[in-house]
Amino acid sequence: MANTGKGKVCVTGASGFIASWFVKRLLESGYHVLGTVRDPGNHKKVGHLWNLEGAKERLELVRADLLEDGSFDDVVMACEGVFHTATPILTNSNSKAC
Ligand SMILES: NC(=O)c1ccc[n+]([C@@H]2O[C@H](COP(=O)([O-])OP(=O)(O)OC[C@H]3O[C@@H](n4cnc5c(N)ncnc54)[C@H](OP(=O)(O)O)[C@@H]3O)[C@@H](O)[C@H]2O)c1
Repeated sequence: MANTGKGKVCVTGASGFIASWFVKRLLESGYHVLGTVRDPGNHKKVGHLWNLEGAKERLELVRADLLEDGSFDDVVMACEGVFHTATPILTNSNSKAC
């Protein structure tokens, strides 16, 4: 029998390697998953998530960017737990090669 009625869990950077495993395991366990990505419409990045079992029923992808203040506030406040894996890749244009 499928698990139903579990709470909402946020997974940041849901398209990423580690996050995708969190999303898969949470969906399999019956949770409602709110995954954050910078572009929910980018099928190349998020298509694999929609193929996961339970995704069509219990996955929502919402836009959030770590470089924008307050971007995660609403989604985090809507959840009972958060797996924070989103990681910006910051480059320093002034850095010199060793
Ligand atoms: N992979 C490993 O074996 C491993 C081992 C130990 C620790 N870790 C740590 O675990 C974390 C995740 O690793 P990973 O391998 O899963 O990385 P990853 O595949 O590169 O995923 C990171 C995600 O962060 C999102 N992201 C990038 N910039 C963002 C921004 N400005 N705002 C919001 N989201 C942003 C990207 O999603 P979008 O582009 O869709 O927004 C990306 O999918 C990292 O901190 C890493 O150091 C990883």
